[in-house]
Amino acid sequence: MNRILVIGGTGTVGSQVLSQLAATGAQVRAMVRDPGAARLPPQVAVVRGDLTLPETLNSCLDGIDVVFLVWTAPAAAVAPALERIAKHARRIVFLSAPIKTAHPLFQEPNPLRAMVEQIESLIETSGLEWTFLRPGMYAANALNWWAPQIRAGDAVRWPHLAVPTAPIDERDIAAVAVRALCEEGHAGAEYVLTGPQSLSQFDQVSTIGRVIGRSMRIEEISPDEARQELLNIMPAGAVSMLLNAWAAASGQPAFVTSTVRDITRMPARAFADWVTDHAAEFRA
Ligand SMILES: NC(=O)c1ccc[n+]([C@@H]2O[C@H](COP(=O)([O-])OP(=O)(O)OC[C@H]3O[C@@H](n4cnc5c(N)ncnc54)[C@H](OP(=O)(O)O)[C@@H]3O)[C@@H](O)[C@H]2O)c1
Repeated sequence: MNRILVIGGTGTVGSQVLSQLAATGAQVRAMVRDPGAARLPPQVAVVRGDLTLPETLNSCLDGIDVVFLVWTAPAAAVAPALERIAKHARRIVFLSAPIKTAHPLFQEPNPLRAMVEQIESLIETSGLEWTFLRPGMYAANALNWWAPQIRAGDAVRWPHLAVPTAPIDERDIAAVAVRALCEEGHAGAEYVLTGPQSLSQFDQVSTIGRVIGRSMRIEEISPDEARQELLNIMPAGAVSMLLNAWAAASGQPAFVTSTVRDITRMPARAFADWVTDHAAEFRA
């Protein structure tokens, strides 16, 4: 049985990967920066490590066959961390992004994209067996983007409301990750993962209102106005990346794949189902 190390297991996707792996009885270890704060399933062994402190990776990687990697650390730490991972493990499943998909939502140049390309290129030349997961927009973005406004009142102010995306449930990304971590046959695969449906941002906010039983006033604001407001909830680089991507994708249906179903043999969860399961987080 593969011994698996999950890096990023306290985050949106990694926490789902850990709980799904724990349910399979796999041998799982989580590398976390603060073991005291991590609330992880009891079957998971927790080890302290930090991607920006490469010497801390050795004990985390000792005896590990397969690594699940979420990267949100600075670019300067990429090369030394991957060097250590490649020394110990045989296989890596990297949570990437749809950087090769010819849809305007995914093709705007940005600094994050350059880092993802760097990580992938180092993995490809590392000798590791690799699988890249390329999810589109997360359904969970709604928690950062809209939940604060919805908890505070009945109005949501947002730019590019007509732009559609196909929001994906983090449990579906994790389900594909678990297959790639535990099964053979995923080497060299690049899985572009989306939710099942193209839905405008307006329809996504309306869905939240419908599910939680509130009628929302959804107001389009200009990209310039949005830039100021979004800077309160995300870094400037992420704001520019999103505003540019939405502008580029205006007038196009979202890119939708069947990969979740193809790999897991279960249909990708609808956005309304994701909202139903997170309804409490939108209520005041
Ligand atoms: N949001 C989207 O729509 C979207 C779409 C496509 C791709 N992606 C990609 O998805 C990734 C983010 O996934 P996510 O939302 O699941 O992540 P997340 O919730 O932001 O969690 C990040 C994880 O990385 C850990 N981490 C951060 N810095 C670390 C370090 N120096 N050493 C060790 N661990 C560290 C965090 O641990 P702590 O608990 O210690 O902070 C946390 O577990 C990004 O690479 C993003 O580009 C996102």
